[in-house]
Amino acid sequence: MKIPVGIIGFGRMGRYYLKEFQKNVAYEVAYICDLDAESREVAQKMAPEAQVISDDQLIFNDKRVQVVALTTTANARLAQIQKAVAAGKHIIAEKPIADTIDHEWEAVKLVEEAPILSTANMYLQNAWYHHLMREVVESAELGELAIMRICHMTPGLAPGEGHESEGPSFHDCGMHYVNLARWYARCEYKTWHAQGVCMWDWKDPWWIQVHGTFESGVVYDITQGFVYGQLAKNQTHNSYVELIGTKGFCRMTHDFKTAVVEIHGVTETQRIERPYGGKNIDRLITEMADSIEKGVRNPLMPSFRDSAMASGYAWKMIEDARKNALPSIGTHEELEEIWEHRRNLKDGYGLLPRLNKNV
Ligand SMILES: NC(=O)c1ccc[n+]([C@@H]2O[C@H](COP(=O)([O-])OP(=O)(O)OC[C@H]3O[C@@H](n4cnc5c(N)ncnc54)[C@H](O)[C@@H]3O)[C@@H](O)[C@H]2O)c1
Repeated sequence: MKIPVGIIGFGRMGRYYLKEFQKNVAYEVAYICDLDAESREVAQKMAPEAQVISDDQLIFNDKRVQVVALTTTANARLAQIQKAVAAGKHIIAEKPIADTIDHEWEAVKLVEEAPILSTANMYLQNAWYHHLMREVVESAELGELAIMRICHMTPGLAPGEGHESEGPSFHDCGMHYVNLARWYARCEYKTWHAQGVCMWDWKDPWWIQVHGTFESGVVYDITQGFVYGQLAKNQTHNSYVELIGTKGFCRMTHDFKTAVVEIHGVTETQRIERPYGGKNIDRLITEMADSIEKGVRNPLMPSFRDSAMASGYAWKMIEDARKNALPSIGTHEELEEIWEHRRNLKDGYGLLPRLNKNV
């Protein structure tokens, strides 16, 4: 018996989910819901097998539907989580799991007290390269883990383009890296000091670098910004994680197609290159199907609590950046140029389909 699923929110992420559900034999896409008529038109073409609707209540009322994938922006999420819990549906939610810290913790409480399965797409927790590097850390090849260095800079979502309910880029995207450092450290953040910069006369920082310590004493730095050559003729990015121990180190980088892990341990030197794996939605939905089949939560599934913790720390780091001078560099005219440029890009970083007719 296939698992009937309803996808709610058919923008950039909703379309990734559809493709993965269609590939996975465990699932059947029963519904796709979006408020936007154009998105519904695309949905009907991509999924003739699904009922395409604008009222999510039809999905919650349908007893056959076992799983909902919540892929709208965060402002709609808590109400949908409430309805899913009331209807006894399992939940795969995009991050952040809600639009404010209070709403996020309300969502955590709701799912933790309900007899349903839930997961949030903190996709780096499902990445092969991070699983491999965590094994290396635990193998003693590096000695004792001391320093984590994380960087993710792309010419991605520009300020004001959408995702307002997800916060500045250090929250919207950066919370993945805040989560990742915590996942490697296996303990909580102890200190943080953040420096940010507001770009193009925008009110919020669009680049932040934060450094500090974990309770274990491990130190970290995280750099995140969607500021990397937005108007460059040829676009590229810089994304890496380095884990430095008392004896050796390992590091990874990727070009969004291939990921490369390099291990410089005390007995081993290795370079491992494999397909990047994108947002790892295939793994997430497989873990959910496996959990439903066995009736036991697959421990690899990132939890709502993971997402709420990471989101909370990311907000604290942004608040710290606001206290540390926070210069403003660039003009609103440059931002308008960036918006126009991104509307016309055929292949760019983080383009939202509703705003970009080329995707
Ligand atoms: N896990 C990740 O790596 C990752 C990456 C990108 C985005 N995201 C998250 O995924 C979510 C969606 O992002 P996106 O880039 O796809 O945005 P998007 O704007 O492209 O898509 C959102 C869609 O939801 C629809 N929508 C909004 N409110 C709705 C409602 N109440 N009912 C039905 N449809 C509704 C919109 O019409 C739109 O089509 C965001 O929360 C974002 O932070 C996560």
